[in-house]
Amino acid sequence: MTDTQVKHSRSVTKAVVPAAGLGTRFLPATKAMPKEMLPIVDKPAIQYVVEEAASAGLGDVLIITGRNKDNLLNHFDSVPELEYSLERKGDEGKLDKVRESSEVAEVHFLRQGQPLGLGHAVGRARCHVGDESFAVLLGDDLIDPRDPLLDRMIAEHDSRGATVIALMEVPRESVHLYGCAAVETTDDPDVVRITGLIEKPSAEEAPSNLAIIGRYVLRPEIFDVIDELPPGRGGEIQLTDALNYLAEGKGDGPVYGVIFRGRRYDTGDRADWIKANVLLGVDHEELGDEITEWVIGFADRLREQRSEG
Ligand code: UTP
Repeated sequence: MTDTQVKHSRSVTKAVVPAAGLGTRFLPATKAMPKEMLPIVDKPAIQYVVEEAASAGLGDVLIITGRNKDNLLNHFDSVPELEYSLERKGDEGKLDKVRESSEVAEVHFLRQGQPLGLGHAVGRARCHVGDESFAVLLGDDLIDPRDPLLDRMIAEHDSRGATVIALMEVPRESVHLYGCAAVETTDDPDVVRITGLIEKPSAEEAPSNLAIIGRYVLRPEIFDVIDELPPGRGGEIQLTDALNYLAEGKGDGPVYGVIFRGRRYDTGDRADWIKANVLLGVDHEELGDEITEWVIGFADRLREQRSEG
């Protein structure tokens, strides 16, 4: 079997990408534009996410939208007048770039209605996903394309019949920014069994330094759990609370975590967004040399200024 055939024979074929949050950490840039549309070098963050889903064999992508959804819809649609103009000029390179996002996957859209929390956004996907397992990729969470993660998560879901969550080791003092997992080790150093989850705990409450990052492979039972869930932290329907219910053994299957050790950027956070642009910029095939030279010169100047001051 080829790689593609292996991917297609898997139980998971659909991806859900929640992109309906308010993006208040990035105001005013996000006043009239979803944060998922902020560019990283030359592509909106969400395009990397949809490309990641497609390269893991998930060619059916449902984006959950909120206010200002038009930018998102337009980005994954074709633009006949622009394509026609580039065709006439014979500019194949730019034509490919324009078409990339409309051809990468079969992209569907669904409105969340009200931004009642990530759990609520995922719950809205039920009518599209049906009775199948599916992946969730947060639209503002960028996994570096050079460090694939989803393939591994889907393989663990398939072999263990489990809900699978991506986890990342973070410093104890940052754990309050994430959902955090209580875990038991397995014989694989990159896989843990999750026994509990808590959303944004204090350093004292945190059961570990393993933080939830924005990739999940979920079984359809999650929808019933979300439907019954009372609002949690911040008055929102929290996906972490639904997953905690399953991790405590109240559902049909176990919950496992895959520990991600690669590069990942929270593009809804201003500092992380700037870092993502620099890190992907220095490795960019057209811009890399120019950006690298500039960063080195800039770092030298900063160092000089600091030693003088
Ligand atoms: P965040 O926790 O980053 O929240 O959402 P936010 O509201 O979007 O951003 P800030 O904190 O105000 O800056 C994590 C992911 O869940 C989606 C977001 O779009 C993001 O991809 N989300 C969140 C929804 O789709 N709906 C919601 O109601 C909340």
